[in-house]
Parts: sequence; C-alpha cells; structure tokens
Amino acid sequence: MYSAITTSLENAILLITINRPDKLNALNKTVFDELNTAIDDVYNNPAIRSVIITGAGQKAFVAGADISEFQGLKHHEGMDLAKKGQYIFRKIEEAPKPVVAAVNGFALGGGCELAMACHFRIASENARFGQPEVNLGLIPGYGGTQRLTQLIGKGRAIELLITGNMLDAATALQYGLVNYVVPQEELLAKARSILELVNTKAPLAVGRCIKAANAVFDHTKDGFTEEVNLFGECFATHDMVEGTTAFLEKRKPDFQGK
Ligand code: COA
Repeated sequence: MYSAITTSLENAILLITINRPDKLNALNKTVFDELNTAIDDVYNNPAIRSVIITGAGQKAFVAGADISEFQGLKHHEGMDLAKKGQYIFRKIEEAPKPVVAAVNGFALGGGCELAMACHFRIASENARFGQPEVNLGLIPGYGGTQRLTQLIGKGRAIELLITGNMLDAATALQYGLVNYVVPQEELLAKARSILELVNTKAPLAVGRCIKAANAVFDHTKDGFTEEVNLFGECFATHDMVEGTTAFLEKRKPDFQGK
C-alpha cells in the first residue's frame, strides 16, 4: 500500500517507519503524502492507541527534506511547500493519541522538525539533531524555528539555527530535546514500553492531556481555560466513572475510551 514508508500495528501501537534508507530517509513528496495518510489513519482507526515514528536503517531517522526537490522552486512554491509540511506536522502534534519519535540517527532539517512535532522523543546514542538549512541558503519551513525555540529556549535555538551545528544525543538530552538516550538496539523497545503503559490509561484523558499541553503554545487559547473545559469534559465520560469506581472498589479499571 505504501512505497516510501512502512507501517505495522502491534499491541495497538502503530509503528511508522520512514523507508528510504539509501537517501537517509529524506522527506520527498511521496513520504509526505504517505505520512499524511498514515496520520489520518491514526485519527480514524480505533485499533490504534499510540504511535512510534522512526527511520529505516541504523544511520538516519530523517536527514531532512529531499533537497533534490527544492531546485527551481519559486517564492510561492516555497511557501506552498512550507504550508504543506506545517499542515502535516501540526496534524501529528494535535493527534489525540500519543506520537513518539524514536530517533535512530541523523534528525536534520525536516527530520528534526518531524521529531519535534511528535509529543516526545527518545534517541539512540548515535542520534544527531540539527537545522542545517542555513548551509543551503534556507531556513526551516516545517515549524522548526518555532518548535525548537519552544523546546530548548531562544538562545540555544537561535545558535543552532544560525550555525547549522548538530547536537549529539547527550547534549540533546541535557537540553531537554529528548527524554531518553538508549543504545540503538533498545530504542524501539524503550518507546514500546512507555506506550504500553500509556495504553493502559483512559484514552480520552490521554488525548485531553496532549490537547491541554498544546494549548500552552497556542496564542488563540488561554491554557488554563482550556484545562477547565477539558477537565469538565472528562466528567461526561464513561471512563471517568469507571476509573474512579475501580479505585474505590480496589480493582483495575477497564477503560473503553468512551
Ligand atoms: N535530501 C536528499 N538526499 C539526501 C539528503 C537530503 N536531505 N540527505 C542525504 N541524502 C542522500 C545523499 O545525497 C546520498 O545520496 P547518493 O548516495 O545518491 O549520493 C545519500 O543520501 C547518503 O548521504 P551522504 O551525504 O552520502 O552520507 P554522509 O554520511 O556522507 O553524510 C549527512 C550524512 C546527513 C551529514 C549528509 O547526508 C547531509 O548533510 N545531508 C543533508 C542534511 C540537510 O541539509 N538537511 C536539511 C535539508 S532542508
């Protein structure tokens, strides 16, 4: 069904692998279109509870947008490209189910932007992060200037953006860009173990945690008001009745996502 990504569903965790290892998994049009379809499926398929995004091979997560597709583009075509990338990455960020980036190597340019659009990141020891667009006469266009600044602060972000330098995994951990650094062979298992735990929680509450946290960065919303609304909505769910009843009855809850 897909040609530039692969997907597999196991224990309600959808593993999406960007699969162009000979091009270090660079994001070409096909990858973008297929990723968009896969993320739509995340929203619509109740069998999917959470998601891992990774790259094929041991060298790269995603080494950026496919530079070969940039040549000859005009001003408005550049804008269209950025709008499309931002649209898909925002869809990941706003997904009502957790999306974790398992960063297995280079996460550069659009690859770093993809990882940052995920809800959090786990890196292998060989991971490298960077926004090297200035080397190409460009700037990040898929949300990188915004999310990098949100995640690591303005001073560190601007330094990375204007030098094009790469961060190694240990520094990314120190900056808070990633939550964990693990040996490469343990990367997917680490992501899975966290998501298997999350998948035992109330799904609608999990989705609302993500939505409330995202509101911090949404200038059209007051995050505290958003939290009040989302908290209130939980009281209208079957899962809230089940979760509180199960606690009082000293048994495990059976959440239905309703
Ligand atoms: N777009 C298109 N092709 C890319 C790519 C990208 N962003 N990144 C890597 N590739 C391709 C290379 O052209 C090469 O293809 P080829 O074998 O057909 O020549 C292949 O992937 C392997 O990359 P190579 O550069 O030979 O590997 P390396 O180990 O020497 O260097 C990097 C690795 C990541 C440092 C280097 O590939 C690089 O700088 N990539 C571009 C990063 C970038 O600027 N990203 C932002 C884009 S906006």
